[in-house]
Amino acid sequence: MKVLIVGSGAREHALTWKALQSPLTDAVYCAPGSAATASIAINSGLQATDVEGIARFVAERDIGLTVIGPEAAVDAGLADRLGPSGRLVFGPTRAAGRIESSKAFAKSLMARAGVATPAYRVFEDPASAKDYVRGERRAFVVKADGLAKGKGTLVPRDADETLECIDTLMLRKTVGAAADRIVLEEKIEGREVSLMALVDGERVVALPPACDYKRALDDDKGPNTGGMGGYSPVSFFNEDDVTRAVDTVLRPVARVLQEEGTPYRGCLYAGLMVGSSGVQVLEFNARFGDPEAQVVLPRLADDLMPLLEAAARGELGGVKPSWSRQASVGVVLASRGYPGTYQTGYPISGLGTLEPGVFAFHAGTSAGAGGYLTAGGRVLTLVALGDSIAEARDRAYRNVDRISFHGVTCRRDLALRELGAPALP
Ligand code: GLY
Repeated sequence: MKVLIVGSGAREHALTWKALQSPLTDAVYCAPGSAATASIAINSGLQATDVEGIARFVAERDIGLTVIGPEAAVDAGLADRLGPSGRLVFGPTRAAGRIESSKAFAKSLMARAGVATPAYRVFEDPASAKDYVRGERRAFVVKADGLAKGKGTLVPRDADETLECIDTLMLRKTVGAAADRIVLEEKIEGREVSLMALVDGERVVALPPACDYKRALDDDKGPNTGGMGGYSPVSFFNEDDVTRAVDTVLRPVARVLQEEGTPYRGCLYAGLMVGSSGVQVLEFNARFGDPEAQVVLPRLADDLMPLLEAAARGELGGVKPSWSRQASVGVVLASRGYPGTYQTGYPISGLGTLEPGVFAFHAGTSAGAGGYLTAGGRVLTLVALGDSIAEARDRAYRNVDRISFHGVTCRRDLALRELGAPALP
């Protein structure tokens, strides 16, 4: 089977790497892919949102399975365009993808599905939103309704900051039309965990949970980013917790989407808050998480392709993937200044010196005459496996220190909170 991976980040590098290990795969193409995927697969030169171009490519190259990475391609309607051709697509239609592309839709869907989520109000004009906050005199999480490349959720500390955040999104339009409508959400306390699952319309097969780190700096300080790293498994979210979350969150949501005529096929990602009052859903993503995919896929002991194919065919019944008992820790190496302004074009050294069992998934690199150059804010996710989180973490940071480029920066506290946790079973 020929496979097309849509996207260009570290998540898609990890998907490409895993697809290439499959004996079922004759060729792996990427759209557009990256400098790193060019060296292991075939980059098509097509942008992820070039729906017509990808549809032609899929037909011409006889692609058997298209795997959609980024939300922009979901929202561009790639699965809608490819689905009727009878070719397999792993990734939801645009309508099912509203679970990510409209926060207000996701909230009302959760109400219909009986899924626990923080209370919320939707506003379409800033004056009413601000009146509401002034009346309540407390802080709310402020979320742009639409897709905002990870920049649409602001977490103020008090009512005044909440008013400022409303202005930032709705008046200063930092994320454009994505914030023409906003959601004000109750702030809740707890620990965040990401739970991804394969969904075939009806059935749900959970992947191991992971944690990601969204803030730029240690101790969860600094601005929100696209993700600075992560780890899996998660000591405070065990197999029973996963089973419960499938039963109370993922399956009910999939069932309602199916009943409403917009069945979900692909990876469904739930961002969960585990607090004293149980598990509540903060957000859904209509795709694999980034960097969650980079830390979870290396732990998959099975071939990924039959799993994605089964989900795309609507045949996940009886599918139970095997997972390595090893833990993984992923550290994002970023350009100084990210997520603000940063310089690129610097040579990256040390990639050839990584220990076995350590993977460098590229997010923002380009090919230079003497090797890779930096080409983005997030440059690499370096992922290490180990027999415990502590071992994976040590290995990850040991290898992080082998890589250098001008202005390299990373968080140093990833998975630190797991060091006191019980050993892996
Ligand atoms: N790690 C969060 C996301 O992929 O959006």
